[in-house]
Amino acid sequence: MINCDVLIVGSGVAGLYAALNLRRDLNVILVSKTTLKESNTYLAQGGISTAKDEEDIESFIEDTLRAGNYKNNLEAVKVLAKESMENIKRLIDFGVEFDNIDGRLLFTKEGAHSTNRIVHVKDWTGKAVAKTLIKNILKRKNIKVYENTKLIDLIAEDNKCLGGIFIRDGKRIDVHSKVTILATGGIGGLFKNSTNQRILTGDGLSVAIRHGVKIKDIEFIQFHPTALYEEKDERRFLISESLRGEGAVLLNHKGERFVDELLPRDEVSLRILEEIKRSKKPYVLLSARHLNSSYLRDRFPNIYSECLKRGIDITKDLVPVAPAQHYFMGGIEVDLFSKTSMDNLYAVGEVSCTGVHGENRLASNSLLEGLVFSRRAAQDINKNIDGIRQLKTCKNSLINIDEIERENKRLVIKELKKKRWDLKNEFIDD
Ligand code: SIN
Repeated sequence: MINCDVLIVGSGVAGLYAALNLRRDLNVILVSKTTLKESNTYLAQGGISTAKDEEDIESFIEDTLRAGNYKNNLEAVKVLAKESMENIKRLIDFGVEFDNIDGRLLFTKEGAHSTNRIVHVKDWTGKAVAKTLIKNILKRKNIKVYENTKLIDLIAEDNKCLGGIFIRDGKRIDVHSKVTILATGGIGGLFKNSTNQRILTGDGLSVAIRHGVKIKDIEFIQFHPTALYEEKDERRFLISESLRGEGAVLLNHKGERFVDELLPRDEVSLRILEEIKRSKKPYVLLSARHLNSSYLRDRFPNIYSECLKRGIDITKDLVPVAPAQHYFMGGIEVDLFSKTSMDNLYAVGEVSCTGVHGENRLASNSLLEGLVFSRRAAQDINKNIDGIRQLKTCKNSLINIDEIERENKRLVIKELKKKRWDLKNEFIDD
């Protein structure tokens, strides 16, 4: 059994940033299901949205609401936009080197943004951010990292979270904490066809469901319009929306444009699916051939080299693309400080539902949500943790780990299917 002040489950941007924003006198345990590098954050290409200045806040709020089909939580959207700039600045202070000219940030555009407001590090923004945060985490003496440690259940009593139960090297570990933060990411690993890391199977969501923690909007699942189409059934490689933001266009099999490429994602995905149905071919084509080839290689080195490995030269060839599951807007319901309906339990990042994204997330708002709301969680914990007594229980001590592990996935898929009957053949276990 292990004790700590704050237990953080998950090592994507939200988990890492929460840890770095906690007081240095708190004893923090950060748990990663596999390694610190295997997160969706690491895969994020496009960038991070931010209001460019005070004048841009209103328009950023409106773009986020419009993309979300006005099903967003307005208060959360205001917080997101207003606190965006200070969090980008904090990332720069931690050492992230966003693309810039003489210190002036370069902003790119993606679908449904009315202006260029996305900061980026070429087309591997997530990796650059994660690497910097990890470097900072490893320097902090108060943060202990456990890799290859899998969440099985929460330890909870009377609607109070007392910690988590994990498996590591086949052995059970109980971690008792004053406060627990779930930052376990999304659900893409449950889908046959997703851009997400395969390990992301809704672990945080399942333990929340089992303990009756409130969940919200779980029918809101986003499909990214332009994942690279490949016949083999593996994780889909993303072709960033920022490539369209920089001028790439979508073509049908007759070589015609059929959609405004910078509409919100749900609309572009729908139009592509219509084309796919019409043409009876499982993909449409993305063309960047008219763009300057050395610019493309320099601005999108990751996409260029990954496509080249598969025999596609994006400076010369058309790229086959199709929609793939990409993001989960729903999740564990949280307030503006990321608190769940269970005492001493917070949720941040994709596992949480702040309501910021509404029905359809605006491009490049996911890393931003992870930053803004995990920092708010940390600030709330910093303020209140001294008043929390560490409690212990042995109530959960007789659990069957194999059975719970199987049940965790089943629980999530069952809940999703209740709301999204149309996705019944999309899950790996179908
Ligand atoms: C992309 O680069 O197209 C993905 C960014 C995001 O999911 O917001």
